[in-house]
Amino acid sequence: MSASMKKILTELEQLEISPFYADRIANDAQCVIGEGDVNADVLFIGEAPGKKEAETGLPFCGASGKILDKLLADIGLDRSTVYVTNVVKDRPPKNRDPKPEEIELYAPFLDRQIDIIAPNVIATLGRFSMEYIMKRYGLEEKLGTITETRGNTFVTEINGKSVTILPLFHPAVAVYNRTRYGELLTDFEKLKEYVETT
Ligand code: URA
Repeated sequence: MSASMKKILTELEQLEISPFYADRIANDAQCVIGEGDVNADVLFIGEAPGKKEAETGLPFCGASGKILDKLLADIGLDRSTVYVTNVVKDRPPKNRDPKPEEIELYAPFLDRQIDIIAPNVIATLGRFSMEYIMKRYGLEEKLGTITETRGNTFVTEINGKSVTILPLFHPAVAVYNRTRYGELLTDFEKLKEYVETT
C-alpha cells in the first residue's frame, strides 16, 4: 500500500468518533480502505464493507465482489488495474444503509483518495456513492433516481482535471436476481468503451 493510503488507513483505524468503531474493535474486524492501483484510470466506489470485507479488510470480496469480478472479466478489465473502494470504510451493523451523517464522517477520507488516485473515470456502484459524488462535484442538478441516472456519463472537473462520472447499479442487485446481470453488464460495457478511448 502506498504511504499516502497507509496514512489514511491509520487515521481510519483510530477514528474513535465513528459510530462503528466500538463494533469493529469488539468483533476484531477491519477498516476497508480500498484496493488496487493508486494510479488507476478507473475508480469504483461502492457503499460500505459487508461481513466478509470487514473480516478480511478487502473491498468487494464477498457475494457482490464475485459479481463485480465477473463484470470486470466480461468487459476485459483486469481488477488489478483499477482501484476499488467505498464511501463508508467500516461495516454498518447488519449491513444496514449508511446514514447521511455517517457518509459525511467518512467522505473526507474518500475525497483524499480521489485526490491521490486522480482517476479519469469514477464509476459509482449504487445510489449512496452516486449521490455523494454527484453532489460533491457539482452535478446535483443532473441527479435522478439510480434507475434514471445509471448508465449515463457526466463530465466534471476535479483538481483542474476533466473526470467522467459513470453511475452504475450496485453489483448486489444481481446477487439474488441473476436476471439483472444483463442490465449491469450493459452499463459496464459503457465503461469499457470509455476506457478504451482514453
Ligand atoms: N458492498 C459494498 O458496497 N462494498 C463492498 O466492499 C462490499 C459490498
